[in-house]
Amino acid sequence: LVGGIAHNFNNLLTSIFGFSELARNALSEGHPATKYLDQVLKSARNAKELIEQLLTFSNRKPSPHLPVSLDRVVSRCLKMLRSSLPATIEIREDIDPSCPKVEADPGQIEQLLMNLATNAFQAMEPEGGVLEVGLHCRPPTPEERERFPHLTAEAYVCLSVRDTGAGIPPEVVPKIFDPFFTTRKRGEGTGLGLSVVHGIVKRHGGEIYVVSSPGKGTTFRCCFPCAPSREERGVPTPKAKPTAPSLGGSERILFVDDQPAIGLLVEEILSPLGYRLTRTTDPLEALEHFRRSPESFDLLITDQLMPKLNGLALIGEIRRLRDDLPVILLSGHHGPASSEELDKAAISAFLPKPISAATLLRTIRQVLDA
Ligand SMILES: Nc1ncnc2c1ncn2[C@@H]1O[C@H](COP(=O)(O)OP(=O)(O)OP(=O)(O)O)[C@@H](O)[C@H]1O
Ligand SMILES: [Mg+2]
Repeated sequence: LVGGIAHNFNNLLTSIFGFSELARNALSEGHPATKYLDQVLKSARNAKELIEQLLTFSNRKPSPHLPVSLDRVVSRCLKMLRSSLPATIEIREDIDPSCPKVEADPGQIEQLLMNLATNAFQAMEPEGGVLEVGLHCRPPTPEERERFPHLTAEAYVCLSVRDTGAGIPPEVVPKIFDPFFTTRKRGEGTGLGLSVVHGIVKRHGGEIYVVSSPGKGTTFRCCFPCAPSREERGVPTPKAKPTAPSLGGSERILFVDDQPAIGLLVEEILSPLGYRLTRTTDPLEALEHFRRSPESFDLLITDQLMPKLNGLALIGEIRRLRDDLPVILLSGHHGPASSEELDKAAISAFLPKPISAATLLRTIRQVLDA
Protein backbone atom coordinates (compact mmCIF):
# COMPACT_ATOMS: atom_id res chain seq x y z
CA LEU A 1 0.00 0.00 0.00
CA VAL A 2 2.66 2.47 1.07
CA GLY A 3 4.60 1.63 -2.08
CA GLY A 4 1.60 2.56 -4.22
CA ILE A 5 1.01 5.82 -2.42
CA ALA A 6 4.69 6.68 -2.64
CA HIS A 7 4.58 5.97 -6.37
CA ASN A 8 1.78 8.47 -6.92
CA PHE A 9 3.43 10.97 -4.65
CA ASN A 10 6.73 10.76 -6.45
CA ASN A 11 4.97 11.39 -9.76
CA LEU A 12 3.40 14.52 -8.31
CA LEU A 13 6.72 15.57 -6.85
CA THR A 14 8.46 15.13 -10.19
CA SER A 15 6.05 17.69 -11.64
CA ILE A 16 6.45 20.04 -8.70
CA PHE A 17 10.24 19.80 -8.82
CA GLY A 18 10.53 19.96 -12.55
CA PHE A 19 8.17 22.83 -13.27
CA SER A 20 9.50 24.87 -10.32
CA GLU A 21 13.02 24.42 -11.65
CA LEU A 22 11.90 25.46 -15.12
CA ALA A 23 10.05 28.48 -13.74
CA ARG A 24 13.08 29.43 -11.68
CA ASN A 25 15.36 29.25 -14.72
CA ALA A 26 12.92 31.32 -16.76
CA LEU A 27 13.10 34.22 -14.30
CA SER A 28 15.63 37.00 -14.76
CA GLU A 29 18.33 37.21 -12.10
CA GLY A 30 17.21 38.87 -8.87
CA HIS A 31 13.50 38.45 -9.63
CA PRO A 32 11.55 38.49 -6.34
CA ALA A 33 9.68 35.28 -7.20
CA THR A 34 12.97 33.34 -7.19
CA LYS A 35 12.86 33.17 -3.39
CA TYR A 36 9.33 31.84 -3.45
CA LEU A 37 10.25 29.11 -5.87
CA ASP A 38 13.25 28.20 -3.73
CA GLN A 39 10.81 27.63 -0.86
CA VAL A 40 8.66 25.41 -3.07
CA LEU A 41 11.74 23.39 -4.02
CA LYS A 42 12.81 23.13 -0.39
CA SER A 43 9.41 21.83 0.67
CA ALA A 44 9.42 19.37 -2.21
CA ARG A 45 12.78 18.05 -1.03
CA ASN A 46 11.38 17.61 2.50
CA ALA A 47 8.38 15.79 1.10
CA LYS A 48 10.74 13.51 -0.80
CA GLU A 49 12.60 12.66 2.41
CA LEU A 50 9.36 11.97 4.20
CA ILE A 51 8.36 9.49 1.53
CA GLU A 52 11.71 7.76 1.81
CA GLN A 53 11.07 7.35 5.54
CA LEU A 54 7.64 5.91 4.86
CA LEU A 55 9.10 3.46 2.40
CA THR A 56 11.57 2.09 4.93
CA PHE A 57 8.54 0.90 6.90
CA SER A 58 6.93 -0.85 3.98
CA ASN A 59 8.44 -4.15 2.97
CA ARG A 60 9.64 -3.00 -0.40
CA LYS A 61 12.18 -4.95 -2.37
CA PRO A 62 15.76 -3.86 -1.95
CA SER A 63 16.81 -1.09 -4.27
CA PRO A 64 20.21 -1.18 -5.91
CA HIS A 65 22.38 0.72 -3.41
CA LEU A 66 25.38 2.80 -4.30
CA PRO A 67 28.71 2.76 -2.42
CA VAL A 68 28.53 5.36 0.37
CA SER A 69 31.06 6.63 2.92
CA LEU A 70 29.27 6.00 6.20
CA ASP A 71 31.48 8.45 8.11
CA ARG A 72 29.78 11.34 6.31
CA VAL A 73 26.32 10.01 7.04
CA VAL A 74 27.28 9.44 10.69
CA SER A 75 28.82 12.92 11.07
CA ARG A 76 25.68 14.49 9.66
CA CYS A 77 23.54 12.61 12.18
CA LEU A 78 25.79 13.53 15.08
CA LYS A 79 25.38 17.18 14.19
CA MET A 80 21.62 16.77 14.33
CA LEU A 81 21.86 14.91 17.66
CA ARG A 82 24.08 17.59 19.21
CA SER A 83 21.45 20.19 18.55
CA SER A 84 18.54 18.10 19.75
CA LEU A 85 19.84 16.22 22.83
CA PRO A 86 20.08 17.98 26.21
CA ALA A 87 23.45 19.06 27.63
CA THR A 88 23.32 16.20 30.18
CA ILE A 89 24.24 13.85 27.34
CA GLU A 90 27.91 13.95 26.42
CA ILE A 91 28.32 12.91 22.81
CA ARG A 92 31.61 11.26 21.89
CA GLU A 93 32.58 10.17 18.44
CA ASP A 94 35.21 7.70 17.44
CA ILE A 95 35.04 7.67 13.67
CA ASP A 96 37.65 6.41 11.26
CA PRO A 97 37.19 8.45 8.08
CA SER A 98 39.29 6.03 6.05
CA CYS A 99 36.71 3.20 6.30
CA PRO A 100 35.86 1.62 2.95
CA LYS A 101 32.48 2.46 1.48
CA VAL A 102 29.34 0.40 2.05
CA GLU A 103 26.58 -0.21 -0.52
CA ALA A 104 23.90 1.65 1.36
CA ASP A 105 20.90 3.91 1.37
CA PRO A 106 22.09 6.97 3.33
CA GLY A 107 18.54 7.86 4.42
CA GLN A 108 18.06 4.44 5.98
CA ILE A 109 21.42 4.54 7.75
CA GLU A 110 20.47 7.92 9.16
CA GLN A 111 17.19 6.53 10.40
CA LEU A 112 18.98 3.54 11.97
CA LEU A 113 21.38 5.78 13.85
CA MET A 114 18.66 8.16 15.01
CA ASN A 115 16.58 5.25 16.37
CA LEU A 116 19.56 3.78 18.26
CA ALA A 117 20.58 7.19 19.62
CA THR A 118 17.05 7.95 20.77
CA ASN A 119 16.91 4.68 22.70
CA ALA A 120 20.34 5.41 24.20
CA PHE A 121 19.22 8.84 25.30
CA GLN A 122 16.01 7.47 26.82
CA ALA A 123 18.01 4.84 28.73
CA MET A 124 20.11 7.59 30.35
CA GLU A 125 17.22 9.76 31.46
CA PRO A 126 16.99 11.71 33.65
CA GLU A 127 20.61 11.86 34.87
CA GLY A 128 22.23 11.85 31.46
CA GLY A 129 25.51 10.17 30.58
CA VAL A 130 27.76 9.39 27.64
CA LEU A 131 26.58 8.50 24.13
CA GLU A 132 29.43 7.22 22.01
CA VAL A 133 29.18 6.52 18.30
CA GLY A 134 31.99 4.53 16.69
CA LEU A 135 32.79 3.63 13.10
CA HIS A 136 35.66 1.30 12.23
CA CYS A 137 36.61 -1.21 9.63
CA ARG A 138 37.79 -4.45 11.23
CA PRO A 139 37.73 -8.23 10.94
CA PRO A 140 34.86 -9.98 12.75
CA THR A 141 35.76 -10.93 16.33
CA PRO A 142 35.89 -14.68 17.14
CA GLU A 143 32.53 -14.31 18.96
CA GLU A 144 30.96 -12.61 15.95
CA ARG A 145 32.26 -15.33 13.63
CA GLU A 146 30.76 -17.98 15.87
CA ARG A 147 27.39 -16.25 16.20
CA PHE A 148 27.09 -15.19 12.55
CA PRO A 149 28.88 -17.90 10.55
CA HIS A 150 28.20 -16.20 7.23
CA LEU A 151 30.36 -13.22 8.17
CA THR A 152 33.18 -14.73 6.18
CA ALA A 153 34.73 -11.61 4.63
CA GLU A 154 38.05 -10.36 5.93
CA ALA A 155 36.64 -7.09 7.22
CA TYR A 156 33.37 -5.27 7.91
CA VAL A 157 32.47 -1.65 8.51
CA CYS A 158 31.21 -1.64 12.11
CA LEU A 159 28.97 1.05 13.48
CA SER A 160 28.51 1.07 17.24
CA VAL A 161 26.26 3.06 19.54
CA ARG A 162 27.14 2.90 23.23
CA ASP A 163 25.35 4.45 26.19
CA THR A 164 25.97 4.54 29.94
CA GLY A 165 22.28 4.10 30.74
CA ALA A 166 20.11 1.59 32.59
CA GLY A 167 21.08 -1.45 30.51
CA ILE A 168 18.79 -4.26 29.36
CA PRO A 169 17.95 -7.20 31.65
CA PRO A 170 19.20 -10.50 30.09
CA GLU A 171 15.67 -11.97 29.92
CA VAL A 172 14.52 -8.97 27.85
CA VAL A 173 17.39 -9.01 25.33
CA PRO A 174 15.91 -11.74 23.08
CA LYS A 175 12.73 -9.70 22.55
CA ILE A 176 14.01 -6.22 21.83
CA PHE A 177 14.10 -6.54 18.03
CA ASP A 178 10.50 -7.82 17.89
CA PRO A 179 8.02 -5.39 16.33
CA PHE A 180 5.86 -3.70 18.98
CA PHE A 181 7.98 -4.93 21.88
CA THR A 182 8.39 -2.04 24.31
CA THR A 183 8.97 -1.57 28.03
CA ARG A 184 7.86 2.02 27.89
CA LYS A 185 4.64 3.36 29.34
CA ARG A 186 1.53 3.23 27.20
CA GLY A 187 1.65 5.98 24.61
CA GLU A 188 5.38 6.58 24.99
CA GLY A 189 6.79 4.04 22.61
CA THR A 190 5.49 1.96 19.74
CA GLY A 191 8.22 -0.65 20.02
CA LEU A 192 9.00 -0.25 16.34
CA GLY A 193 12.37 1.53 16.65
CA LEU A 194 14.60 -1.54 16.87
CA SER A 195 12.58 -3.67 14.46
CA VAL A 196 13.06 -0.95 11.84
CA VAL A 197 16.77 -0.86 12.69
CA HIS A 198 16.98 -4.64 12.35
CA GLY A 199 15.21 -4.54 8.97
CA ILE A 200 17.58 -1.87 7.69
CA VAL A 201 20.70 -3.79 8.75
CA LYS A 202 19.38 -6.98 7.11
CA ARG A 203 18.52 -5.19 3.87
CA HIS A 204 22.13 -4.02 3.79
CA GLY A 205 23.42 -7.58 4.18
CA GLY A 206 24.69 -6.86 7.68
CA GLU A 207 24.26 -8.13 11.23
CA ILE A 208 23.33 -6.38 14.47
CA TYR A 209 23.61 -7.43 18.10
CA VAL A 210 23.58 -5.95 21.55
CA VAL A 211 25.87 -6.19 24.55
CA SER A 212 24.40 -4.84 27.77
CA SER A 213 25.13 -4.85 31.46
CA PRO A 214 22.25 -3.71 33.64
CA GLY A 215 23.16 -0.59 35.57
CA LYS A 216 26.23 0.09 33.44
CA GLY A 217 25.05 0.58 29.90
CA THR A 218 24.40 -0.86 26.47
CA THR A 219 26.22 -1.12 23.14
CA PHE A 220 24.56 -1.91 19.83
CA ARG A 221 26.94 -3.05 17.07
CA CYS A 222 26.09 -3.24 13.38
CA CYS A 223 28.51 -4.86 10.90
CA PHE A 224 28.10 -3.96 7.21
CA PRO A 225 29.89 -5.64 4.31
CA CYS A 226 32.39 -3.37 2.53
CA ALA A 227 31.43 -2.35 -1.00
CA PRO A 228 33.56 -4.09 -3.61
CA SER A 229 36.33 -1.84 -4.86
CA ARG A 230 36.32 -0.54 -8.44
CA GLU A 231 38.83 -3.20 -9.50
CA GLU A 232 36.73 -5.94 -7.92
CA ARG A 233 33.67 -4.70 -9.77
CA GLY A 234 35.65 -4.56 -13.01
CA VAL A 235 34.94 -0.85 -13.40
CA PRO A 236 37.91 0.99 -14.86
CA THR A 237 39.11 3.94 -12.75
CA PRO A 238 37.75 7.04 -14.42
CA LYS A 239 40.12 9.22 -16.37
CA ALA A 240 40.44 12.87 -15.42
CA LYS A 241 36.93 14.31 -15.42
CA PRO A 242 36.11 16.19 -18.59
CA THR A 243 35.43 19.82 -17.79
CA ALA A 244 31.80 20.93 -17.98
CA PRO A 245 30.38 18.02 -19.98
CA SER A 246 27.89 19.03 -22.61
CA LEU A 247 24.33 18.22 -21.59
CA GLY A 248 22.60 18.72 -24.92
CA GLY A 249 22.37 16.41 -27.92
CA SER A 250 20.45 15.73 -31.10
CA GLU A 251 19.56 12.09 -30.45
CA ARG A 252 16.03 10.75 -30.91
CA ILE A 253 14.38 9.70 -27.69
CA LEU A 254 11.22 7.68 -27.13
CA PHE A 255 9.65 8.68 -23.81
CA VAL A 256 6.86 6.75 -22.09
CA ASP A 257 5.12 7.68 -18.84
CA ASP A 258 1.42 7.35 -18.13
CA GLN A 259 1.46 10.75 -16.41
CA PRO A 260 1.02 13.44 -19.10
CA ALA A 261 2.56 16.12 -16.85
CA ILE A 262 5.82 14.19 -16.69
CA GLY A 263 6.02 13.81 -20.46
CA LEU A 264 5.43 17.53 -20.86
CA LEU A 265 8.07 18.30 -18.26
CA VAL A 266 10.64 16.09 -19.94
CA GLU A 267 9.87 17.68 -23.30
CA GLU A 268 10.37 21.15 -21.79
CA ILE A 269 13.73 20.03 -20.44
CA LEU A 270 15.03 18.12 -23.48
CA SER A 271 13.73 19.93 -26.54
CA PRO A 272 15.51 23.27 -25.95
CA LEU A 273 18.79 21.34 -25.77
CA GLY A 274 18.35 19.79 -29.19
CA TYR A 275 16.99 16.33 -28.38
CA ARG A 276 14.19 15.04 -30.60
CA LEU A 277 11.50 13.60 -28.38
CA THR A 278 8.61 11.31 -29.20
CA ARG A 279 6.45 11.08 -26.10
CA THR A 280 3.41 9.05 -25.25
CA THR A 281 1.43 8.09 -22.15
CA ASP A 282 0.54 4.69 -23.56
CA PRO A 283 3.12 1.88 -23.56
CA LEU A 284 1.28 0.04 -26.37
CA GLU A 285 1.43 3.14 -28.52
CA ALA A 286 5.14 3.42 -27.73
CA LEU A 287 5.60 -0.14 -28.93
CA GLU A 288 3.70 0.71 -32.12
CA HIS A 289 5.93 3.74 -32.77
CA PHE A 290 8.94 1.57 -32.28
CA ARG A 291 7.69 -1.30 -34.41
CA ARG A 292 7.14 1.06 -37.33
CA SER A 293 10.78 2.15 -37.39
CA PRO A 294 13.06 0.52 -34.86
CA GLU A 295 16.12 2.28 -36.26
CA SER A 296 14.73 5.76 -35.79
CA PHE A 297 15.33 5.89 -32.05
CA ASP A 298 18.59 6.23 -30.11
CA LEU A 299 17.22 5.84 -26.59
CA LEU A 300 14.13 4.63 -24.72
CA ILE A 301 13.12 6.23 -21.44
CA THR A 302 10.21 4.52 -19.74
CA ASP A 303 8.38 4.56 -16.45
CA GLN A 304 8.02 1.21 -14.68
CA LEU A 305 4.50 1.20 -13.24
CA MET A 306 2.00 1.82 -16.07
CA PRO A 307 -1.36 0.34 -16.97
CA LYS A 308 -1.50 -2.32 -19.75
CA LEU A 309 2.23 -2.96 -19.95
CA ASN A 310 4.83 -2.16 -17.31
CA GLY A 311 8.23 -0.71 -18.09
CA LEU A 312 10.19 -3.96 -17.86
CA ALA A 313 7.65 -5.73 -20.09
CA LEU A 314 7.85 -2.90 -22.63
CA ILE A 315 11.63 -3.12 -22.56
CA GLY A 316 11.35 -6.86 -23.16
CA GLU A 317 9.15 -6.33 -26.25
CA ILE A 318 11.41 -3.63 -27.59
CA ARG A 319 14.52 -5.76 -27.08
CA ARG A 320 12.97 -8.38 -29.35
CA LEU A 321 12.89 -5.78 -32.12
CA ARG A 322 16.27 -4.28 -31.35
CA ASP A 323 18.49 -5.61 -28.61
CA ASP A 324 21.11 -2.86 -28.61
CA LEU A 325 18.85 0.08 -27.76
CA PRO A 326 19.98 1.93 -24.61
CA VAL A 327 17.20 2.14 -22.00
CA ILE A 328 16.63 4.31 -18.94
CA LEU A 329 14.02 3.03 -16.48
CA LEU A 330 12.18 5.49 -14.24
CA SER A 331 10.33 4.50 -11.16
CA GLY A 332 8.05 6.20 -8.70
CA HIS A 333 9.18 4.10 -5.80
CA HIS A 334 12.58 2.67 -5.19
CA GLY A 335 11.96 -1.01 -5.65
CA PRO A 336 10.42 -1.45 -9.09
CA ALA A 337 12.05 -4.81 -9.42
CA SER A 338 14.87 -6.77 -7.87
CA SER A 339 18.44 -6.09 -8.88
CA GLU A 340 18.39 -9.41 -10.75
CA GLU A 341 15.38 -8.33 -12.80
CA LEU A 342 17.13 -5.06 -13.57
CA ASP A 343 20.30 -6.89 -14.55
CA LYS A 344 18.33 -9.27 -16.74
CA ALA A 345 16.57 -6.44 -18.56
CA ALA A 346 20.05 -5.03 -19.23
CA ILE A 347 18.86 -1.49 -18.67
CA SER A 348 21.51 1.19 -19.01
CA ALA A 349 20.39 3.29 -16.05
CA PHE A 350 17.74 3.37 -13.36
CA LEU A 351 16.38 6.71 -12.14
CA PRO A 352 14.19 6.83 -9.04
CA LYS A 353 11.55 9.55 -9.12
CA PRO A 354 11.33 12.38 -8.40
CA ILE A 355 13.91 13.12 -11.06
CA SER A 356 15.60 16.47 -11.39
CA ALA A 357 16.44 18.08 -14.72
CA ALA A 358 20.15 17.96 -13.95
CA THR A 359 20.15 14.24 -13.12
CA LEU A 360 18.05 13.41 -16.15
CA LEU A 361 20.34 15.32 -18.53
CA ARG A 362 23.49 13.87 -17.02
CA THR A 363 22.13 10.33 -17.13
CA ILE A 364 21.01 10.67 -20.75
CA ARG A 365 24.49 11.82 -21.83
CA GLN A 366 26.20 9.08 -19.80
CA VAL A 367 24.02 6.42 -21.34
CA LEU A 368 24.33 7.72 -24.89
CA ASP A 369 28.10 8.23 -24.63
CA ALA A 370 28.78 4.86 -23.00
N1 LIG B 1 19.95 1.58 24.66
C1 LIG B 1 19.01 0.93 25.35
N2 LIG B 1 19.11 0.79 26.71
C2 LIG B 1 18.17 0.13 27.40
N3 LIG B 1 17.08 -0.44 26.87
C3 LIG B 1 16.91 -0.36 25.53
C4 LIG B 1 17.87 0.33 24.71
N4 LIG B 1 17.44 0.25 23.44
C5 LIG B 1 16.29 -0.46 23.46
N5 LIG B 1 15.96 -0.81 24.71
C6 LIG B 1 14.78 -1.61 25.10
O1 LIG B 1 14.23 -2.21 23.94
C7 LIG B 1 12.85 -1.87 23.82
C8 LIG B 1 12.47 -1.79 22.36
O2 LIG B 1 13.11 -0.68 21.73
P1 LIG B 1 12.46 -0.04 20.45
O3 LIG B 1 13.32 1.09 20.02
O4 LIG B 1 12.19 -1.12 19.47
O5 LIG B 1 11.07 0.48 20.95
P2 LIG B 1 10.75 1.70 21.92
O6 LIG B 1 11.97 2.56 22.06
O7 LIG B 1 10.19 1.11 23.15
O8 LIG B 1 9.62 2.47 21.15
P3 LIG B 1 9.84 3.44 19.87
O9 LIG B 1 11.25 3.26 19.41
O10 LIG B 1 8.87 2.96 18.88
O11 LIG B 1 9.59 4.79 20.39
C9 LIG B 1 12.70 -0.58 24.59
O12 LIG B 1 11.38 -0.40 25.06
C10 LIG B 1 13.69 -0.77 25.74
O13 LIG B 1 13.12 -1.56 26.74
MG1 LIG C 1 13.02 3.26 20.39
